[in-house]
Amino acid sequence: MANILVTGGAGYIGAHTVRALLARGDHAVVYDNLATSKLETIDKLKREGAVTFVQGDINDTAGLDQVFAAHPIDAVIHFAAWKNAGESMLKPAKYFENNVAGTNRLLDAIQRAGVRRIVFSGSCSVYGTPARLPVDESFPLNPESVYAHTKLMCEQMMDWFDKRHSVRYVSLRYFNAAGASADGLIGEEPAQSANLIPVVMEATLGRRPGIQVFGDDYPTPDGTCIRDYIHVSDLADAHVRALDYMAREDRSDIFNIGTGEGTSVKQIIDATERASERTVPAETVGRRAGDPVAIYADNTKARTLLGWAPQYGLEAIISHAWNWHKGIVA
Ligand code: WQD
Repeated sequence: MANILVTGGAGYIGAHTVRALLARGDHAVVYDNLATSKLETIDKLKREGAVTFVQGDINDTAGLDQVFAAHPIDAVIHFAAWKNAGESMLKPAKYFENNVAGTNRLLDAIQRAGVRRIVFSGSCSVYGTPARLPVDESFPLNPESVYAHTKLMCEQMMDWFDKRHSVRYVSLRYFNAAGASADGLIGEEPAQSANLIPVVMEATLGRRPGIQVFGDDYPTPDGTCIRDYIHVSDLADAHVRALDYMAREDRSDIFNIGTGEGTSVKQIIDATERASERTVPAETVGRRAGDPVAIYADNTKARTLLGWAPQYGLEAIISHAWNWHKGIVA
């Protein structure tokens, strides 16, 4: 049994990863300020295995030191961050402070505690708009939002902590996280998200006026943007494999975590109509600034070195998301 500190472990991807750790008998020490997540999620996770919850902030250096002093932490999985790219363009300082300065404080606490492994929530947004597809880890990095840039800065900081303090890292560059747990236990809080799938689900349930399709005149088969939607449980599995990889290889590395399949906005709407047997109220509006036309992953490296492969496709993503959103009592 390993003791894993999970910052942001009450959040969407964090909670799914905690669940994957519990399933294999690890002890998860969740460190979360509950700014965008709920204690109720922790209560659910506690019924699944060994979870210690500490309400704390990554910017609180003394709080971090206390956690490391209280638990023999083997490795850290770091999710805690702001994640709204649009908001980051309006409030850059908020993102640099929490995502970059907060990660620096965490890395410093990690090395002080003598911990040597961290798995990081990276992002495909570090590639910007790739020159060709699919995108692999060697592509040039060209963040187009403050949010994306904070993710790149964290990778660069971790690289220096590796060189100077031998703290190994794996950055998992997620594509579009989506879906919910297959049994409906946990999922994404809709209030926290402006992402396509939660918005489509809430609109279909009549909790929002309707979905605005941001442009249908793109050079794609149906005119709408293409993304690589990856099931949140597959993402969670990648984190567990990344821990094992670091324990095995004692080295730092970076992996794309996406399915390799591109799906358009219209295909998401169609799949939701099939799963829900309802009509999705949608209207086409203008393009959203900064949207890449299409992006999807070359995931060969994760398949080869982590032994990871996505278990869920689009139908499962949509049906699990639908079940989760339907079950939320407002
Ligand atoms: C998806 C598609 C929109 C909402 C985000 C993060 C990014 C990365 C991946 C990790 C786009 C369209 C959306 C709506 C719409 N993740 N859309 N109407 O922008 O691809 O990327 O996840 O870090 O950093 O920003 O995700 O869900 O906002 O959009 O038409 O109301 O849906 O234009 O084509 P995005 P998204």
